[in-house]
Order: sequence, then structure tokens, then C-alpha cells
Amino acid sequence: MKKVFAVFGDPIEHSLSPVMHNAAFKALGMDCTYHAFRVSRENLKDAIKGAHAMGFGGLNLTVPLKEEALKIVQPDPLAATMGAINTVDFKCTVRGYNTDGIGAKRALVDAGVKIEGAKVLIVGAGGAARGISFKLAGDGADITIANRTPEKSIQLAEDVALVGNARGCGLDKLDELIADANVLINCTSLGMHPQVEATIAIAEQMHSGLVVFDIVYNPLKTKLLKEAEKAGAKTVSGVMMLVYQGAEAFRIWTDVEPPVEVMKEAVMGALRT
Ligand code: ATR
Repeated sequence: MKKVFAVFGDPIEHSLSPVMHNAAFKALGMDCTYHAFRVSRENLKDAIKGAHAMGFGGLNLTVPLKEEALKIVQPDPLAATMGAINTVDFKCTVRGYNTDGIGAKRALVDAGVKIEGAKVLIVGAGGAARGISFKLAGDGADITIANRTPEKSIQLAEDVALVGNARGCGLDKLDELIADANVLINCTSLGMHPQVEATIAIAEQMHSGLVVFDIVYNPLKTKLLKEAEKAGAKTVSGVMMLVYQGAEAFRIWTDVEPPVEVMKEAVMGALRT
């Protein structure tokens, strides 16, 4: 019988995970299907139990469910220290993983970034910032987290300091922080469709030695990435993080090598239409 996979979230209608995973299943001739379901925080426990009872192959979780899931499923050590789950596997027990940080890391490594020793400036202190900062700090990067609400970045940095070097602050010294960084990552929603003119920084604040990574992938080239190009900086699209976090989830569920190029093409195709 066809194996069913799903992403839960709210809102969920614009998720690209179905197109990405269904393309992967098709390319590999696997009898599997992947769907998006709108699930509220209050209903997450019932939804996960239901998916398990119905023999689903696995789940992805997105906003606003990643933290709530920790109360419901058994997290692996990385997800437990991060405090967020984006992947649920039903193979043995109901187990939670976080592949967001691995996705971001692989996207940066693809762009030639050496994580160990890199000075990484993360703007934003929500769920995405949490996943990325834990993974990169754990792999030896020096992390600064700057956020509009400094209390949140300071708290996140304190948590991240358990696995590596991290400090948190507000946005007031952003110019100096960018000047001092090797990698700048936007983990805010600034620049996301339809507010495409919003950006955390403009060309004049950036430099040519910088790698600029935007987790926003719709539009494909955000204002931040356009400004980074103007400054001569290297750019990394959020599409690659989406693809790599999905690829890692696919590997966890299926033990099959994910067809990364197929997944990337599927996502890019959907974003172009
Ligand atoms: P996610 O889980 O995707 O990271 P989130 O938890 O809602 O989403 O986090 C969004 C991040 O974007 C937060 O760091 C938020 O800053 P605050 O903590 O101050 O709310 C940041 N953000 C959203 N809109 C912003 C804006 N207009 N300017 C600066 N930061 C913004």
C-alpha cells in the first residue's frame, strides 16, 4: 500500500515540501505520497497520534509546531538541545529530529564556507535562527545573534553557548557586526513575498568578503541577496536550505539517498510559476 508522508503547519498552503518530496519519490520509483495538512498547536498531539495510527511514513513540522512537538515526541539529542523538531519518524518509537541546521550547514558548505572558525552573524532569534545557530556553533563557528528584541537573542545565545561560542544582542550595532563577519544569515521574515522590498541590510553595509545567506526563498532572489551582489558578496539562496533539510528528513524516513538535484529542480520550478 502507498506510504503517506506529510507536513503539518499553520499556515501551510504555500509549503513547497509536497512538490519537493513527491518529485523525489517519483524519481526513485517509490510508492509514496506526501501531503500538507493545516494543524494548529492545540491539535498537534492528536494529529501526530493519528498519523502514527494510520501508518504514515513520517512527518515534517513547520511554524508554529516545532517547539510544541518536543512535548509530544521523543527528540534525538540534537533536537532536544535545540528545543525544536522539524522531522518525525515512526519507524521504531515516535522520534523527533531537527534537520534545519544540517540543511543550512550543507548550503553554506556548498558555497565554499569553512564552518569551523567562521564568524557568523545571524539576524533573527526565532525557530529558524535556533536550528541554524545550534548546528553551526556545535561545528565550531563563532556565532553572534542580533535581534529586534534583544532579550530573545540573548536568551538564545545563552542556550547555544552550551554547545559552542555564541553571544546575543540588538540590531543597533549591525553595521559593525556585519563588517566583522564572514557569514551573514537572515533568519527573519524580512524580504518575504509580498514585502519584497524589506531587507535587514543594504549593499553599503556589506563587504566583498562576506557570504550572505537568506533563509527566505520566495522570492528566489530577495532584496538582501540583490544588495549583497551589489557589494560583491557571495550569495546563498534559502532554496538550498529547504532542499537540504528535506533531503536529510527523506534519508531519516527511508534510509535511501535523497535525489537532491531532483528536489532542487522541483522547488525552483514551483517558485518560478
Ligand atoms: P521563524 O520560526 O521562522 O524563525 P519567528 O519565530 O516568528 O519565525 O521569528 C521571526 C524573527 O524575525 C524574529 O527574530 C523577529 O524578531 P522579534 O523577535 O523581535 O519579533 C524577526 N522579525 C520579524 N519581523 C521583523 C522586522 N520587521 N524587523 C526585524 N526583525 C523582524
